[in-house]
This record gives sequence, C-alpha cells and structure tokens, in this order.
Amino acid sequence: MTNKEIIHRIYYILKPFRVKLFIAMVGMVIVAATTGVQAYLVKDLLDKIFMEKNEFFLNLLPLILILVFFIKALADFIYSFLLELVGQTVIRDLRIRIFSHIHLQPLSFFNSMPTGTLISRIISDVTLMQQAVSKALVNILRDFFQVVILLGVVFYMNWKLAMFSFIILPIAGYPIVKFGRLFRKLSIRSQEETANVSNLLHETITGNRIIKAFCKEKYESKRFNHQIDKLFSVTIRNAKFKSTQHPIMELIGGVAFALIIWFGGKEVIAGESTPGTFFAFITALVAAYEPVKRIAKINATIQQGMAAANRVFTLLDIEPEIKDKPNALNLLPFEKSIEFKGLSFSYYNEEHVLHDINLKIPTGQALAIVGPSGGGKTTLTNLIPRFLDVTEGEIFIDDTNIKDCTLASLRAQIGMVTQQTILFNDTVRNNIAYGNLEATDDQIFQAAKAAHASSFIEALPKGYDTVIGEGGSRLSGGQQQRLSIARAILKNAPILILDEATSALDTESEREVQKALENLMKNRTTLVIAHRLSTIKNVDRIIVIKDGCIVEEGTHDELLALHGEYEQLHNIQND
Ligand SMILES: Nc1ncnc2c1ncn2[C@@H]1O[C@H](COP(=O)(O)OP(=O)(O)OP(=O)(O)O)[C@@H](O)[C@H]1O
Ligand SMILES: [Mg+2]
Repeated sequence: MTNKEIIHRIYYILKPFRVKLFIAMVGMVIVAATTGVQAYLVKDLLDKIFMEKNEFFLNLLPLILILVFFIKALADFIYSFLLELVGQTVIRDLRIRIFSHIHLQPLSFFNSMPTGTLISRIISDVTLMQQAVSKALVNILRDFFQVVILLGVVFYMNWKLAMFSFIILPIAGYPIVKFGRLFRKLSIRSQEETANVSNLLHETITGNRIIKAFCKEKYESKRFNHQIDKLFSVTIRNAKFKSTQHPIMELIGGVAFALIIWFGGKEVIAGESTPGTFFAFITALVAAYEPVKRIAKINATIQQGMAAANRVFTLLDIEPEIKDKPNALNLLPFEKSIEFKGLSFSYYNEEHVLHDINLKIPTGQALAIVGPSGGGKTTLTNLIPRFLDVTEGEIFIDDTNIKDCTLASLRAQIGMVTQQTILFNDTVRNNIAYGNLEATDDQIFQAAKAAHASSFIEALPKGYDTVIGEGGSRLSGGQQQRLSIARAILKNAPILILDEATSALDTESEREVQKALENLMKNRTTLVIAHRLSTIKNVDRIIVIKDGCIVEEGTHDELLALHGEYEQLHNIQND
C-alpha cells in the first residue's frame, strides 16, 4: 500500500469527525497566532518600555499579555481535548471493526494467522495509528501554522535577515526525510518482533502444563530471551537514530543562530535596525525553529503509525473466503436429506485430503464415521457448516446447495460437539446457553441433565453461576466435554455433529451420556465420529474413511461380514 493510499483511507476514517476537527484546527490557529503575538510584543517591550520608558505601555502590556495567554490557554484546551476525543473514538471503532472482521473469517484464516499476531494488530497497531493521527498529525498541523505565522512576523520585521530561514529550513528538512525512512523500516521490524513475542507468550502461557511436564522451563526462557533480544536490538537501533536526530537538528539551529546574531548585530550597530526589532526577530525565529525540531521528533511516530496503518488496512482488506453470496437464501427447515456429491477437499491447494465422497444421509438417520486417525473425518464434518468450503463437488441440504444459503441460516440448523472442547471463561450457565442466550433456567437445567452434567454442576461452589476459568480449565476433561454436549443439546438443532463427543468420559459416564445422546439423536440427523466402536453399535449406518476415501459402508453386522477395515478395527479393540 502506498503512503497516498494509506493517507486516503485515514482521511475517510476521519471524515465523519470533520466538524470537530475543524474546530480543533481553529483552536490550533489561535494558539499559533497568539505565539506570534507574543513574539511581536517583545519588540514593544524593548523599544517602548525600556528605550522610550513609556509608562502607559508599561501598564498596558502586562494586561495584553494576560489576555493573550488566557486566549491561548482556552484554545489549547479545546483543540487538544477534541483531538484526543476524535483519536480515541477512531481507535475504538477500528478495534471493533477488526474484531468483527476477524470473526467473519473461515477456519483456514486462523491456521495461517497466529493468535498473538492478531492480538497485536488490535492492541498495539491500532494504538500506534492513533498516536500518529492524534498526536503527531495534530502537532504537525499546529506546528505548521505556527511556523507560517512566525515566519510572517519575521519577514515583516526584517526581510533581509528572514531570508536566512530559507537556508535553514531545507537543511533542517534533510535529516527529517532521511531519518523518516529509517524509522519506517525499523518500525515494521519492531512490530513483527512484537507480534512474535506475543505469539510465543500466548503459546507458552496456555501450554504451561506441557512445559512443566517436560521440564522445559529453561528451554522456553531461552526461547523467550532470544525473541526479546531481537525486539530489543531493533528498539535500540531505533533509539540510536532518534538520539542522533535531535543533536543534528540542534546543531543546524545553533549555526543559523550564530550567523543571524552576526548579521543582525551589524545592522543594529550601524543604526539600520532597533534592538527591539532584533530581539523580537530572534524570539520569533527561535520560536519558529522549535516546531521544525518537533516535526523531526514526531516523524518517528508518524512513520510507525503509517507502517501500523498499512498492516491494519491489509488485514481489513482480507475478504472472508467464505461468505454469503449476494441474494443468499435462508435455508428452509431441514426435512429430507444431506447429500455429498463428488466431493473433494484440500487445505491450501495441497494434496487432497478427501477424494470423491458421495454420500446421502436421510433425515432422522444416525451415521457413524470411523476410520484411522488423519483419515479426514473431522474435515468432512467441517464442510457441512461451511467452516471450510469444498474444493470440488457439492453439498446439498434438502434441495439447496449450501453455498446458496446464508451462513447464519445454515449454521442455525447444526448442533456441534467438536473434537477439541472449547468453552469460555464465563459461568456454567452462560456456557450452556451459548447458542440460545434467552434460554430459561429450566431449559438449561434439562440440557445439563440430559448431558449428565447436572450433578457435578450442582456440586460446584456456585452451581450454575460458577465461572469455569479460561477454556474451562477449572473443570476436568470429562466435565468440559459434558458441558459442551449440554450446549449442543440446548441449541436443539435438527442436524447434530458429534466429533469424539464422549472420548474424555469414563466408561460409566460414557454409557450414560451415550444414552442421553441416543435420546437426542432420535428426532435428528446425526453424524457421529467415534474411535471406540462400542459407542456406535446402535447407529443406522457406518462409513469407514481411510486416506480421504469412503472404503466401506453398511451396518455393524454388514461391515463385520466384509472382513475388511472395519473388522480389523473391531478386532483390535476387542483384543
Ligand atoms: N488445518 C489444517 N491444515 C492443513 N491440513 C490439515 C488441517 N487439518 C487437518 N489437516 C490434514 O487433513 C487430514 C485429515 O485430518 P482430519 O482432522 O480430518 O482427520 P480425522 O480423521 O478427523 O483424524 P482424527 O481421528 O485423528 O481426529 C490430515 O492428514 C491432516 O494432516
Ligand atoms: Mg478428527
């Protein structure tokens, strides 16, 4: 993205705030103007009070000064507050936008975007953008006005001397531009390293149990050290350039100042100018150089902000690969069948993990999917709610291709218990009611009971109001699984997908939950993935998936009679 495009987009983001920004700008002009007036008053101070000893001016000048400072203070407050307000509003809106945008993305997006990177986009990149907009851009506007007004004063007083400023400004501008490029480059590096640090943090903090189990504390500390060192060296290089820039700017200013004293002093001695004019001139010029130096300093912030904006906009530009078609229909209530027609699938255009799957599941049927690990069972079920889109072939629900209906109406008809249990750091009640936040206490209780979760929930310190920790970490694996089953039960969707839903339960609870699930499956169409074949004896039909193909299909007895894959699985488990 070019600078121009970035600025263009920032402009569109700021456009709704144009009234506030305009008022702020007026405030800035007033601040700049009052600074100019202050410099100009130095002339009267010296010439009228000290040289002419004019008493009237002695009384008037302090009053004028107080008034000028009062106006300046008021304008200062108005513009700085308004700008902060606009800046923070933009940050808030942008964060909300990125958040919603991320959650519109399909599964594949999250496979390629590490969590820490996404977090750093929302937290730190947005902040860097805001700093560039509300601190830097603003200061630049104000400083620009100030330079213009002060230069006006300078020219008005002594145009010959003022020509000097035409020599200083370009010389001072050179390091600003030069260093700006460096800051930009370093900022990109620094944000990459920050994202890496936050990815490492995310992984190691959530994985702390494994680190302990494998005694890898020292190893992880070393990895962290290494990562932090990289960030450190980028930051220090940045600091080095920042610290070099300031003295260079001071030096340029100092040399200019010395020359002006020499030329200006000569004029005063020769009687061509008054000491008042000279001092006012110097005051105005020094005041005009301040903003120039500040711009140099702020430039680093601006370059960081531009780099951050580039990343944020690039993220916002990623179109969700899976989204509603224009004119997508609402999927009608499910009544006939789910059908896979010539379906193939590959992750990222690599080798196909599912090959030419043809399958029809009539409503009310319970279909079990079994087969060796990595065969493609989870992948197949993820295609139904369109977490992933098929590479070839089609999936029909009744007579509708699932690509033609809205994602919301499709997903509303599907209840899921995923292979990895996912719960939120919230109360038991809210976790169960996640699919239907309006559910009554009784409905929640019934769902918990059906999932054989009610007895352990009631034993929790606060019952249904107990907060279960990050990812449900305060519960046992089996308890987590039963909560996620309760959550699927409460959603009460006509299509149910159970991916190893009872794998973490002991035989006793599994048997009971199994009974509950069988009750649940009665009026529903269910896809059950199971490793333990004992849990799927009562399903209507079983398919065996191996290396992405359906290799066998039939009832338990039919499959045993084939003496193939299924029988092998069965024999191993009964040994
Ligand atoms: N996000 C992903 N990106 C790339 N490849 C993937 C991804 N998820 C799964 N795969 C690959 O797809 C294949 C099928 O995986 P899948 O998870 O569907 O297997 P599964 O039959 O559910 O196995 P299990 O019984 O172990 O759960 C595997 O070879 C796996 O390596
Ligand atoms: Mg799986």
